[in-house]
Amino acid sequence: MNQPNHGGNLAWAAEIAGCPASSLLDFSASINPLGPPSSVINALQAALIQLRNYPDPNYCSLRSHLSNFHDIPGDWILPGNGSAELLTWAGRELANANETILLTPGFADYYRALTAFSAKIKAISFDIFSQNILTQIIPPADYSQTSLLLNNPHNPTGRLFRKSEILPLLDQFSLVVVDEAFMDFLPPEKSESLLGLVEKYPNLIILRSLTKFYSLPGLRLGYAIGHPDYLQRWQAWRDPWPVNILAEAAAIAGIEDHVFQQQTWNWLKSARLQLAESLTQIPGLSPLSGAVNFILVKTNFPSSQLQKQLLINHQLLIRDCLSFPELGDRFFRVAVRTEADHQRLLQGLTEVIKAQT
Ligand SMILES: Cc1ncc(COP(=O)(O)O)c(C=O)c1O
Repeated sequence: MNQPNHGGNLAWAAEIAGCPASSLLDFSASINPLGPPSSVINALQAALIQLRNYPDPNYCSLRSHLSNFHDIPGDWILPGNGSAELLTWAGRELANANETILLTPGFADYYRALTAFSAKIKAISFDIFSQNILTQIIPPADYSQTSLLLNNPHNPTGRLFRKSEILPLLDQFSLVVVDEAFMDFLPPEKSESLLGLVEKYPNLIILRSLTKFYSLPGLRLGYAIGHPDYLQRWQAWRDPWPVNILAEAAAIAGIEDHVFQQQTWNWLKSARLQLAESLTQIPGLSPLSGAVNFILVKTNFPSSQLQKQLLINHQLLIRDCLSFPELGDRFFRVAVRTEADHQRLLQGLTEVIKAQT
């Protein structure tokens, strides 16, 4: 099997580790370890009886719940089979511009979605250690025929761009798509989401995921928020039922589970700090400070070697950064998990690094 482009490829990792996929502890996909919430599991069980029906192709019920949740009209929301499905249609839309600007390092799937529709991509690399704001990273120019694809909070660095940094760009670009797949990990008072601006800026589309926060990557669930003209077009391009009945029920239960949301925010605040501080104690590792549930770590040891040794000797899977060419073997990324999981990771890393020095 080839080196995967994404985290969470347990079948590939199990082959290297020589153990069943179920024995692996996965730090490579950034999934909430507290989930899925029991409210979602109950909703899934209750929805099983509906499997004999087709889903509502307009997803009226889910749209109306999302509409209440975000205080945005339902026809400005389009559910999808994970935000990855909606990224495909965003790619088709972005490709209409003369050029699409992407920041690198960046999520590898952006290239898939854009090249699928022959978009002309202009990658702008940014110094991940500098605090330059977006308007300093993206040089001034005439962008009236140019589209922009941003990711906030940014994967893999964990950097949170401020709303105020993005705002001036909305006036300049023909279309701005902001992938906010990890934004829900920030409590409302810390959020830098642009959701509140979509009705003011018809050239702004936001992509959200429910798979990471609610721990449902196997179910696939996300949504786009933007002007109904875009979303109706996307609906016409795609197959009639991309979101299945179980995913729809899970989404409704998840967004209404305020207890789970609060628990996640409480856990993440201390768990991220604890993991970052412990990683700093391991010689040769320097974690970057980030805002969400994963940590990018600079390493003096090749990350592909660390990954292999952790798999073989400890059944632990970390995310190498080979699919981010600017980072390559000098970085790896780990998800923030529970304290017990962190102890296993830290012990594994310490042993593997000791054996290399
Ligand atoms: C930045 C980013 N956006 C979008 C996705 C896709 O998420 P999903 O399709 O599971 O909603 C991922 C998955 O890793 C991601 O890292």
